[in-house]
This record gives sequence, C-alpha cells and structure tokens, in this order.
Amino acid sequence: MELGDIPKYFAGKTILVTGATGFLGKVFLEKILRVQPNIKKLYLLVRSSNTHLATQRLHFEVFKKDLFRLQRDEKGENFGTFISEKVVVVVGDVSLEMLGVKDAKMREDMLKEINIIVHSAATTRFDERFDIAMATNTMGAFNVLSFAKNCLKLEILLHVSTAYVYGQMKGLISEKPFFMGQTLKGSSTLDIELEKKLIENKLSELEAQKADEQTIDMVMKKFGIVRANLHGWPNTYAFTKAMGEMLVANMKDLPLIIIRPTVVTSTHFEPFPGWVDDVRALNFIIDGYGKGIIRSFVGVPETVLDIIPVDMVVNSMIVAMVARSKNLCTNLIYNISSSLRNPINFSDVLDNTYCYFTKNPWINKNGKPVLIAKKMALFSTSMDEFDPNKGSKMESAIELFRPYTIFEGIFDDQNVENLRMVAKRAIDEGFDFDPRNINWKNYLMNVYIPGVMKYSMRSKM
Ligand SMILES: NC(=O)c1ccc[n+]([C@@H]2O[C@H](COP(=O)([O-])OP(=O)(O)OC[C@H]3O[C@@H](n4cnc5c(N)ncnc54)[C@H](OP(=O)(O)O)[C@@H]3O)[C@@H](O)[C@H]2O)c1
Repeated sequence: MELGDIPKYFAGKTILVTGATGFLGKVFLEKILRVQPNIKKLYLLVRSSNTHLATQRLHFEVFKKDLFRLQRDEKGENFGTFISEKVVVVVGDVSLEMLGVKDAKMREDMLKEINIIVHSAATTRFDERFDIAMATNTMGAFNVLSFAKNCLKLEILLHVSTAYVYGQMKGLISEKPFFMGQTLKGSSTLDIELEKKLIENKLSELEAQKADEQTIDMVMKKFGIVRANLHGWPNTYAFTKAMGEMLVANMKDLPLIIIRPTVVTSTHFEPFPGWVDDVRALNFIIDGYGKGIIRSFVGVPETVLDIIPVDMVVNSMIVAMVARSKNLCTNLIYNISSSLRNPINFSDVLDNTYCYFTKNPWINKNGKPVLIAKKMALFSTSMDEFDPNKGSKMESAIELFRPYTIFEGIFDDQNVENLRMVAKRAIDEGFDFDPRNINWKNYLMNVYIPGVMKYSMRSKM
C-alpha cells in the first residue's frame, strides 16, 4: 500500500502549532503552506502580552524571514492576505493550563475546530533553569496533551521530542517509549511530582533568603543539572524532555506520534538549500571555528555525529501524520536520524569544515580574511587537556556539548524505515526524509556551512 497524495490530506484541515517562532516550527509552517495552500486554518500559539505584539512577532520572526522568500515571490502582494486568511495568532504559553489561552471564545473555537496538533515548543537550552525547563518541556507536553484530549475533532497529536532522551546510551538506541518512572540509572526511580515539589521547595528557600534574580538563575540552573545527573541524564534539557515524553507516551487512546530528531541542521533542499536560524549546537562550533575563535574542541574523532537536515525532519513529520491517518504506519516513535543509514563521524565533519574555510575564509568586520591554519583539534574528554579555554565562556560551552561530541550511540530507525517503505513515492515527490540521499561532502561544503555563515546571528557581526 502506498500513501498517495500527501498534500491532499491537509486540505481543509485546521492545525495548532506550538513553537512556530522556533527553527523547526518555521520550516514546518513554510512547507505546509507551500504544499497545501488550501489548508483551512493554522492556529499559531505565540508567547506575548497581547495579540498585536504576537502578530508582530510572527511577522518579523517568521513570515519576513528569508525562509519564506519563495512564497513571497510567488504570491507577490497577495502574500500578506494569504497569511492573514490562514493564520490565527493565539497568545499563549504551553507551561500554563489550557495553554494559557485566556480568550474563552478563541479556546472554544480551537477545541471545536482543531484536527491536528504539532507540538514543537520547548526550551532548548541544555542548562536551562530547572523550574523553567520543567514547566516548558515536561508540563508543557502534559498541557498540550490535556488540551488535545478536549479537541472534538482531533486526528493527530504530533509531539516533537529529541533523540537524546536516552542520554549518553551506547550502542543501538531503539525507538522504544519510556515507561513511567524510568530513569537512565537502573538503581533509581523517577517521580515527576516529587521533582516538581523539589523545585517548589528550592524556590521557596531562595525566596526566604531574599536571593536576587541572578542567584536564583544560577541556583536553579545548577539544580537542574544535579537532578538530571542523579537520574542519569547529561543535562536539564534532555531530562525534562524525557519526562515530557513519558507523560505523553503513557496516555492511551490518543492518536499520537512522537518524533525524536537528532541534531537538526540547515535545510538540504527545501524551500532552498542552506537555510538555518541561529548559531546553536554544531552551528556554533562551525561559526566559531570559521571566525578563528574556536581552534580546538572536546570530542572523539570517530564519534558518529548524528545530524539531520531540518527539511528532512519536517518531511518525516508530514509523512508520519498521513501514514498514521491512513493506518499504513502506526508506530508511536520515530528516530529522525542519520547515524545508522548514512553515518558521518566528527573527524570527517571537521575535515570538510577546514576545507571549506581554507577555500572561503571568513571576512571580518575590518575586511580582512580570517585564515584558518589547521583542522580543529579534538581533545578526548578532560577539561585539563583543554588549557587554552580553561575558565573561559568556552569552557561551559564545551561542558554542555561534550555529551554529544563523545557520543557512542547509533540511532536505530526501523520505524522510520517502515515509514519510508510506505512512502516511496512521497520521497520522490518532494517529501524526502531518507538520510541515504545526503552526500555529506556536498551538503557540508556547498549547503550547510555556507548557510551557517550566511544566516547565523554572530556572522552578521
Ligand atoms: N534544533 C534541534 O537540533 C533539535 C533537535 C532535537 C529535537 N528538537 C526539538 O524540536 C523542537 C523545536 O526545536 P527548535 O530547534 O525549533 O527550538 P527553538 O528554535 O529554540 O524554538 C523553540 C520554540 O518554542 C517556543 N517556546 C518556548 N517556551 C515556550 C512556552 N512556554 N510556551 C510557548 N512556546 C514556547 C519558542 O517561543 P519563543 O520564540 O517565544 O521563545 C520557540 O517558538 C523542540 O521540541 C526541541 O526539543 C530540536
């Protein structure tokens, strides 16, 4: 059985998207509006104090971005009208019950109309304050789930998780759901209510001490890492995302899909190659290296760096929804990854990066090329081997990235492979999510690295 016409499924549908101002959310929006302009409505949940400011945020942070230039060019002066006909801005916050949607009429309409929910919102800082990460990534997932349960016409809830919910697991990492209370250390059990209580207690203690905001930030950040490490996760982000996934996956009777992308990089092909949003994660390392700021980093050359272009992630989300709706592929979890089917190791990424910057040196603000003398050096694991950066801001970046640059796992993607089997035609017709179709050398040299240098914020300095 084949999936048939993918865009057709979305005609006349109403979708709620959280995280639309984020990297993945934007690319999802762009694609869905491009392939199915006859979508009925897109409710976009945006954090803001009022609708006017939320609308402005969407205008400047989403629709004015280069990402939408194809559609702006194609629709010309009608682009604005098209967007305003399709998009309904919803002021809200996933950390609040009923997603913080205060307008009762809006809430009622949403619950009556929504067919699909794409929950992409999260705080993606690895060392976020524990209270914020818990409210956003864990309770946020729960709040979206509770909202979904009240949607009268819900067909799909797609929850965006991360492949790194399994922390630093070695070997083949499966697409298995967590059971409630599971930790990454066999010895402990996890009680999400207890974690919430501990957060409340810690905040009350800080209040009693009349701690200033900076102290609260620092203490709550450290507290997150301590709790994460205690249960076997490397950072607060992965820990709170895992708890969010646990709450969602253990809820029966909802048409649920969980996607777990690995490290999401620039677009491969669509809407055009090389679009990227900012300088997080690998982008940060490449950007810093090209500018002569980072010369060495922690990592193991043989580590398979699991990266996946953002348009492939979006295509897999879209195809998984259609396959689920037609009962052609009903798996719960999909590892959207490249390490099993088309692995590339850290050393090869760095070779290509070196090669790129020797051919295309960065021109600094004084108009001088930044000459890169050698390939980035990798140090095994210990900060002591890392004297040049000791005590610097780079030290904390290295600490945060280390779990991923010394990673020893490979992501199994059998469920995604099953999806590809039913989506062969879709893959050929603009919904490619097969990492085997990536030529890494070409992607790194001609797409991703030029994209990082063109679009990243620091690049504009
Ligand atoms: N990027 C990656 O490499 C990667 C890899 C694996 C998984 N993921 C997952 O993919 C999803 C999207 O990631 P991304 O890279 O697009 O992240 P991002 O660029 O940091 O965007 C995060 C989005 O979530 C929104 N958000 C944060 N807190 C919120 C709240 N309390 N209420 C409502 N919205 C809130 C942000 O809104 P504001 O604009 O208001 O901050 C933003 O729109 C996340 O679930 C992430 O965990 C990402």
